[in-house]
Amino acid sequence: MKAIGITLLLAALGFLPAAHAAGADECIECHAKTTEKTASGKSAKVDPEAFGGSVHAKGKKKCLACHEEIENPDKAPHGKVKAVDCASCHDKEAAEYATTIHGKAKAGGKSAAATCVDCHGAHDIRKSDDPKSKVHKVNMDVTCGACHGNDAMIKKEKMPGGNVAKLYHDSIHGESVHGKDKSKAPTCTNCHGAHDMRPKSDPESNVAKGKIVETCGTCHSKAKKAFLGSVHGKMKSQNVKAAPDCTDCHGAHGVQKHDLPKWQVDVVKECGDCHLDYIKTFRDTYHGQVTDLGYARVATCAACHGSHDIQRKDNPESKISERNLLATCQGCHPKANANFVKFEPHADKHSLKSGPALYYTTKFMQFLLAGVFSFFGLHTLLWLYRSIKVVSARRAGRTEEKS
Ligand code: HEC
Ligand code: HEC
Ligand code: HEC
Ligand code: HEC
Ligand code: HEC
Ligand code: HEC
Ligand code: HEC
Ligand code: HEC
Ligand code: HEC
Ligand code: HEC
Ligand code: HEC
Repeated sequence: MKAIGITLLLAALGFLPAAHAAGADECIECHAKTTEKTASGKSAKVDPEAFGGSVHAKGKKKCLACHEEIENPDKAPHGKVKAVDCASCHDKEAAEYATTIHGKAKAGGKSAAATCVDCHGAHDIRKSDDPKSKVHKVNMDVTCGACHGNDAMIKKEKMPGGNVAKLYHDSIHGESVHGKDKSKAPTCTNCHGAHDMRPKSDPESNVAKGKIVETCGTCHSKAKKAFLGSVHGKMKSQNVKAAPDCTDCHGAHGVQKHDLPKWQVDVVKECGDCHLDYIKTFRDTYHGQVTDLGYARVATCAACHGSHDIQRKDNPESKISERNLLATCQGCHPKANANFVKFEPHADKHSLKSGPALYYTTKFMQFLLAGVFSFFGLHTLLWLYRSIKVVSARRAGRTEEKS
């Protein structure tokens, strides 16, 4: 009696359409138990607890907020029901979505692109700051990973970047999202935005080449400041295309802790991709050859040049300027003196420019090596020739005996 009285009152006040007055609780009761399937073959069961905890259960219309055309719940099956239109209440988010990579791809007929339901769920939608929400920070790698971590789908749909969810999950960022201090850790949407997500080729995107320093810099302000003062950062500010930014050295999704030896060795290759001559000469040195074996303890490029504060050697602030070079080497060679630092880390032993001593020593060593190989090579050939002669002579002897 009382319940009906209240619903009638609500209906009279315009909160509920009269025809639905008795609806929601009945819908839940029946759908919590039903074992039947819908017209499209899905289970018709709705978990009452999941729904009870969702934002929409707090509204008065409950199920009918989204499935409003079901007028007479007593009559099941209800027949084909219209697709739910989230935009009817969330027009702002829907408009944003329409301009994003997923919205555009969907509109363009790409059925694999994410919809509202793929990211938010349907019956279990919660506010994003609720740890049970599909779009809460700690669940985002799973939610986005349903597609961006799904190798079969990535291949079939040619999704850009490959399995970025796995890369992210194994990175320092992915680790920190699931660690103690999650509040500061970045998840997909910290870098990409939520409804304003755009492809990296769009200059408006947070992850477009021109915006990455800003995006990473929101959390790493110290690194950003140092970088912007460096030779690379100054070029970046002037939009020089060849200049590196954060992701050229750290990657975008696979960011690793800076003191991990494997990463420190990997970053040498990144420097070398742009500084071809210098990595070639570096590889010829003791530092380079040992670093190649995976030991970052021996000098990497960054150990001598710095990382975010790299400057040209004629800049007094540079770690390799006349003023600072000795101190830089002394960091690892405490006994180094002015004579020691005359050693050239980039001496090109194949060019006379690096000094006649190194050039002629290298040439001599090459000559010696070639000489040794030629001598013993010839020696081996002559030996082989002699052996063959001896063997065939013996064979000839044996055939004569038999006949
Ligand atoms: C926030 C909007 C919303 C509310 C509220 C809502 N639904 Fe749904 N419902 C949906 C969407 C969206 C789908 C389609 C799901 C999909 O595409 O996976 C759906 C699908 C269904 C289906 C088909 C089976 C399925 O999972 O696809 C049933 C049955 C259903 N809803 C029952 C209910 C019942 C019962 C309630 C109240 C307890 C309810 N719904 C409340 C949005 C809603
Ligand atoms: C007596 C049990 C019962 C009641 C009450 C009931 N339903 Fe259903 N509902 C079913 C069954 C069984 C199906 C699966 C067969 C079908 O599709 O009609 C179903 C299907 C649905 C579907 C999926 C339709 C489709 O194929 O896409 C939706 C949505 C739905 N119900 C919503 C509601 C809502 C909202 C209410 C309350 C206003 C409600 N139901 C009340 C039993 C019930
Ligand atoms: C009938 C109107 C209506 C429809 C249809 C509807 N919603 Fe909502 N939704 C609301 C209202 C009202 C709230 C606010 C609830 C609150 O603040 O407690 C809400 C809250 C939300 C929230 C949490 C918002 C926040 O501020 O934390 C999300 C996410 C959401 N809806 C997504 C959806 C999705 C996805 C769909 C479609 C499957 C949908 N809604 C369909 C009315 C609707
Ligand atoms: C690619 C995933 C994705 C898609 C698709 C998507 N959303 Fe969202 N949405 C999010 C994320 C992530 C947030 C949380 C934003 C934040 O933390 O600032 C969010 C926030 C919201 C909010 C505010 C809720 C809150 O808790 O702050 C509403 C409402 C909402 N979305 C509705 C929709 C609707 C409606 C659609 C479809 C038109 C949609 N979303 C499509 C990921 C998505
Ligand atoms: C720390 C910031 C950051 C986080 C966290 C992050 N991304 Fe990215 N993402 C980027 C940047 C920057 C790019 C641009 C690509 C580049 O510069 O290599 C990018 C590119 C992408 C691309 C396009 C790949 C390509 O090469 O074209 C996809 C898809 C993507 N991200 C999805 C995700 C998903 C899903 C997550 C969460 C699991 C995520 N991202 C987390 C920064 C981030
Ligand atoms: C239902 C599957 C699905 C889900 C879930 C999904 N995506 Fe996507 N996403 C796609 C598809 C498919 C594309 C490729 C669209 C195209 O080809 O235009 C895409 C494209 C992207 C791109 C653009 C890459 C580029 O630079 O071209 C980014 C960034 C992205 N998704 C991030 C996310 C993030 C972050 C989430 C989670 C909040 C997410 N996606 C959830 C399917 C999904
Ligand atoms: C030219 C390559 C390069 C670029 C560009 C670069 N980094 Fe680094 N970064 C490094 C190296 C190398 C280290 C390790 C330094 C060390 O071991 O002392 C490092 C260390 C870090 C660290 C951990 C140590 C610290 O200083 O806090 C963070 C955080 C970081 N980088 C963020 C960034 C951000 C953000 C950007 C863009 C603004 C960026 N990096 C640009 C190479 C680079
Ligand atoms: C929302 C904030 C946020 C954003 C955006 C962000 N990071 Fe981080 N980053 C963190 C946090 C938190 C850690 C973990 C610190 C820890 O646990 O030591 C971290 C760790 C790192 C580390 C390892 C630091 C170390 O001590 O070795 C590097 C390198 C790094 N981030 C680079 C980047 C790059 C590059 C980008 C942009 C593509 C980026 N970050 C974007 C918050 C952020
Ligand atoms: C994406 C390409 C790129 C990456 C990665 C990169 N650099 Fe550079 N770097 C440049 C460009 C371009 C210049 C300017 C060259 C010029 O003006 O001739 C430059 C300038 C320099 C200079 C100043 C000397 C000069 O010739 O101007 C030094 C030193 C340097 N880089 C060291 C490094 C080190 C060390 C790393 C790795 C930690 C690194 N770079 C990573 C592109 C890169
Ligand atoms: C042992 C320390 C050391 C290591 C390791 C090292 N460098 Fe150098 N680098 C120097 C010194 C000293 C100079 C200046 C003398 C010269 O030009 O040969 C220099 C010069 C340079 C210059 C030109 C600078 C200018 O202002 O003209 C570039 C670019 C450079 N190095 C890049 C690299 C790269 C890339 C790596 C790693 C592959 C690397 N260096 C490894 C010490 C080092
Ligand atoms: C990050 C540490 C580090 C830095 C910085 C560094 N070195 Fe080294 N260097 C090593 C290690 C380790 C070895 C291996 C031999 C050893 O243990 O002394 C080595 C070996 C050498 C050797 C070869 C020694 C031999 O016995 O063949 C020379 C020459 C050398 N360094 C010169 C320099 C000069 C010059 C600088 C400054 C421009 C420099 N190093 C900066 C770590 C470093």
